[in-house]
Amino acid sequence: MIKIAPSILAANFAKLGQEVKEVEEAGAELIHIDVMDGHFVPNITMGPIVVEALRPITQLPLDVHLMIENPDAYIEQFAKAGADYITVHVEACRHLHRTIQLIRSFGVKPGVVLNPHTPIESIQHILEDVDLVLFMTVNPGFGGQKFISSVVPKIEALSKVINERQLSVEIEVDGGITAETIVPCANAGATIFVAGSAIYNKENRAQSLQEIKAAGEA
Ligand code: DX5
Ligand code: ZN
Repeated sequence: MIKIAPSILAANFAKLGQEVKEVEEAGAELIHIDVMDGHFVPNITMGPIVVEALRPITQLPLDVHLMIENPDAYIEQFAKAGADYITVHVEACRHLHRTIQLIRSFGVKPGVVLNPHTPIESIQHILEDVDLVLFMTVNPGFGGQKFISSVVPKIEALSKVINERQLSVEIEVDGGITAETIVPCANAGATIFVAGSAIYNKENRAQSLQEIKAAGEA
């Protein structure tokens, strides 16, 4: 089962509600929200008020990707704004286990994110506590970058660990996902795919979304 999570980073912010509705009607499974603070990554995007504004306009789970320093200070706000998933970067968390517990304490599903160079060994001891692991296949900060294929063996290796340990952790992939790049990631065991420019920068968003999904399911 392949799930597509369009990233609204590539949407038109002047009509964000409509942009979310459009991908929901096109068959998206989650809405991916990229939160950037200008410190952890060299870009600034959106905060809890955007999550709060989108909450009543879609039935889909809101997948909030925090690319910020000190995520602990903002988790309550994002949870109360209506996040269904909150993912935090292992590189931004000094006490990762505490942060994951904090997310869960608000009834939100926690996930952990790995930058392209971060080894999966860094999350071996948190796998029991998370609902998903998000692999960055670009350096976080911007949409529209090129897929980094050296991440694929990491996905494969983690997928093996999850199966061996019989855990129910989903694998999500984010960055440069298209109908081509989804294929090796899906084969490696990922099930949730973020796509920003490959959906929102296209004339026919519904068709693009369905093409990406079909390629992942093939
Ligand atoms: C990058 C973000 C991604 C980004 C993906 O830092 O985490 O979610 O929006 O955009 P595309 O699909 O264009 O690479
Ligand atoms: Zn993201």
